[in-house]
Amino acid sequence: MPVKKKFKAFIIENEKKHGVKDIDLNFLMEGNVLVKVSYSSFNYKDGLAIVKKVPIIKKFPMIPGVDFSGKVISSSHKKFKKGDKVILNGWGVGEKHFGGFSQYARVNGDWLTHLPKNLNEKNSMIIGSAGYTAALCVLELNKKVNPKDGKVIVTGASGGVGSIAVNLLSELGYHVVALSNKQKKFLFSLGAKEVLNRSEFKTNLKPLGKQKWDGCIDTVGGDILASIISEIKYDGMVVATGLAKSHLLNTTVYPFILRNITLSGVDCVYASSVKRRKAWTLIEKKLNFKKLKLIKSEKNINDINELSKKILEGNIKGRTLISLKKL
Ligand SMILES: NC(=O)c1ccc[n+]([C@@H]2O[C@H](COP(=O)([O-])OP(=O)(O)OC[C@H]3O[C@@H](n4cnc5c(N)ncnc54)[C@H](OP(=O)(O)O)[C@@H]3O)[C@@H](O)[C@H]2O)c1
Repeated sequence: MPVKKKFKAFIIENEKKHGVKDIDLNFLMEGNVLVKVSYSSFNYKDGLAIVKKVPIIKKFPMIPGVDFSGKVISSSHKKFKKGDKVILNGWGVGEKHFGGFSQYARVNGDWLTHLPKNLNEKNSMIIGSAGYTAALCVLELNKKVNPKDGKVIVTGASGGVGSIAVNLLSELGYHVVALSNKQKKFLFSLGAKEVLNRSEFKTNLKPLGKQKWDGCIDTVGGDILASIISEIKYDGMVVATGLAKSHLLNTTVYPFILRNITLSGVDCVYASSVKRRKAWTLIEKKLNFKKLKLIKSEKNINDINELSKKILEGNIKGRTLISLKKL
């Protein structure tokens, strides 16, 4: 595969200017593996990086895109050789090292993972960082909450993390309650047993509310997370991974010291390779791949501006694949 002299990338030049540009390999940052990128995906953090820039972007210029899949073109890293299919999620890519919204990426091989054997380049990025984060959350929740225990609520349920979490939990046998502003039919088809409309969700402001949920995977933060913490049953667990509503959390110690509940945080960016392997194995074994067509929409780097606004408004359903193939 000859490397193109000029190729396309979405570049954030500075706090005010961004867009698609033709670049060459000399523009890329240092790294010991060069990858021809096939797909990236559009994640909430990419929207934040493009609209708000700082603090997500640590230096300019930057190519956003926190994940990608593709084929190795050249490598001096011992684990990778020309032709290997690889994926990358996190490690500061798209924040401080050029990311996946580019037809070529040069990265540190330590950040790459061989494409799991039951996945292809396309579906690995339909799942993408959001789906892999959902798997990390499910593994965390499973440490304390079993499928037979009772109800698990997923917030931001129609979003990237939420939709994959709903499906994984339901495939594992959990009774999933989806909290969402979107169509109920979509969430039922992913495996939710109940759908709560966000407009009907009553925020509990007391330190301890009625015990409703055995567990929760939360992607939104703010008063929704605070309220759910006060409603978790004795011995239950909340896994917090997002801030689509707010980064603030106003709570008390009562649910923790009187109901023995756990609030556990999940970060996907610097997760250990052991955790990553477990998360992708869970996805390979349990995700219902037939459902991916329900949650997928396909775009390219010319659509990034519009996608950025939509994701911050909470108007993206499921996962958005970014194709770098034909531009
Ligand atoms: N910690 C990590 O490593 C990590 C990794 C990946 C993602 N995240 C975070 O997880 C969050 C979700 O990411 P994502 O990729 O799933 O984003 P997404 O696809 O945009 O989904 C977020 C969902 O949250 C809901 N939502 C949006 N605005 C809201 C509001 N004001 N109030 C209540 N709900 C709201 C919407 O779902 P409904 O309409 O269905 O309610 C929306 O679809 C983001 O904050 C992201 O930064 C963190």
